[in-house]
Amino acid sequence: ASALPENYTLRALSQSDYDIGFLDCLRVLTTVGEISKAQFNERYQWMTGHDGYYVLVIEEVRDGKPTIVGTGALIVERKFIHSLGLVGHIEDIAVAKDQQGKKLGLRLIQALDFIAEKVGCYKTILDCSEANEGFYVKCGFRRAGLEMAHYY
Ligand code: ACO
Repeated sequence: ASALPENYTLRALSQSDYDIGFLDCLRVLTTVGEISKAQFNERYQWMTGHDGYYVLVIEEVRDGKPTIVGTGALIVERKFIHSLGLVGHIEDIAVAKDQQGKKLGLRLIQALDFIAEKVGCYKTILDCSEANEGFYVKCGFRRAGLEMAHYY
């Protein structure tokens, strides 16, 4: 289902993506903060050492130079209900500003959705702003429920 434009690759996050703009890509979404390579590596290693964390990236190679231009994550939550059911949570979807509108976001969601179904999730959910509702509808999601938050 997923054809990317030429020179683009969708793959799992790698530790060396720190050096090719992974955090800058996330900055289109929200505040990232100053994260050192050591701090990034520690979080990366924690995530890869725990089941249920899937961080994908889209890399573009232009003039021989690779850059991360898109990212998205799936977290698989383990439940007691629904016979020890699994729920997928899609989080932190970001496509670089100058790369939006090329279906990269759609390809990320399709890939995360594929993983969620394959690992046995009975549903996948996400929170988004009203402004992004149309994007997720095009990705096959529909409005369900209401997000509440308590910030600390
Ligand atoms: N409203 C309505 N439709 C939209 C929107 C939108 N905001 N954005 C994209 N679409 C449509 C596109 O027009 C396209 O429709 P088409 O198939 O008819 O041509 C379809 O959705 C797929 O669009 P893509 O090209 O795949 O979208 P893009 O690669 O630009 O990614 C995204 C969309 C991820 C929202 C991107 O604009 C972005 O990174 N925005 C800033 C960060 C952000 O808001 N991320 C999402 C936060 S929510 C979360 O992370 C769970």
